[in-house]
Amino acid sequence: MHDILDELEHRREQARMGGGQNRIDAQHAKGKLTARERIELLLDEGSFEEYDMFVTHRCTDFGMADTKMAGDGVVTGWGTINGRITYVFSQDFTVFGGSLSETHARKICKIMDMAMKNGAPVIGINDSGGARIQEGVASLGGYADVFQMNTLASGVVPQISMIMGPCAGGAVYSPAMTDFIFMVRDTSYMFVTGPDVVKTVTNEIVTAEELGGAKTHTTKSSVADGAFENDLEALSALRRFFDFLPLNNREKPPHRPFFDSVDRADHSLDTLIPDNPNKPYDIKELIAKLADEGDFFELQEDYAKNIVTGFIRMEGST
Ligand code: HXC
Repeated sequence: MHDILDELEHRREQARMGGGQNRIDAQHAKGKLTARERIELLLDEGSFEEYDMFVTHRCTDFGMADTKMAGDGVVTGWGTINGRITYVFSQDFTVFGGSLSETHARKICKIMDMAMKNGAPVIGINDSGGARIQEGVASLGGYADVFQMNTLASGVVPQISMIMGPCAGGAVYSPAMTDFIFMVRDTSYMFVTGPDVVKTVTNEIVTAEELGGAKTHTTKSSVADGAFENDLEALSALRRFFDFLPLNNREKPPHRPFFDSVDRADHSLDTLIPDNPNKPYDIKELIAKLADEGDFFELQEDYAKNIVTGFIRMEGST
């Protein structure tokens, strides 16, 4: 029995190493965390239950039969954020660039299905080069399944996408269908395909940042709802954001204890809005003064600045 348990632990250890130490070091050198480190930071300590840790791909073309890695480039499961359940998948860029194979897609669809059945949000941490080229149409079919799940989950459970690496093809088409998209500045990109492929096909020279960086998507295209300085800041902001949302379409958002007095008078509001309608004032100051503990989670801060949108709580309710 001990031998079996040792073997199991050994296999788990191997699965946790993803694409190997060199690729993990390369990921860290770019200022990015690994798929598992991200899940650890996002979820409550010790709450993560993983599924399908030993799944491998079924491709035999292009020498792929000899390069199988446990988990097949995505870590999936469920856990809690401040005690509330969420399903999560986190793509592992150290395994074939986090690209999506048929089996990788199945793992994602499985947790999305569970999320809908159990009425819990889906958080996708995307760090992927899109459809796994070696698999051809099998990986494209996998994306078709993921897209279908995105449409079925839409309006049923919240779907949140974190873009945390160079994401191409299906790895952005699917997030684009989700409810909220957040990026990380300088390390995350969303594009149909990367700059090298663009150069080869169209001869156009364009930087990754211009093509699909956080600045492009938060100021020009409005695809992303927000951008953060690094992985750590992005994941802790996501924990804060998650607390504003209901778990599904049949539940109300959570009621939080609040430490603000309901009849608090704020005399600065008497003078904040100028008598002269042509004089500008800062609406965010007004919002912060109305919100419980001044907590305002703004969306699309850098886009269409003549309107401010986001979430606050009043008397503990979102
Ligand atoms: C297989 C891939 C891959 C992919 C990256 N890799 N993308 N393997 N399929 N789609 C592998 C690389 O070969 C490399 O392996 C490792 O991941 C890291 O990639 P690099 O290129 O070294 O990293 P980087 O310079 O950071 O560039 C990342 C990238 C670039 C911008 C994502 O790799 C790229 O442009 N990839 C192709 C993107 C693409 O066109 N995808 C197809 C999308 S089509 P090694 O072994 O060297 O570490 C699609 C259609 C969906 O998704 C439609 C559904 C219906």
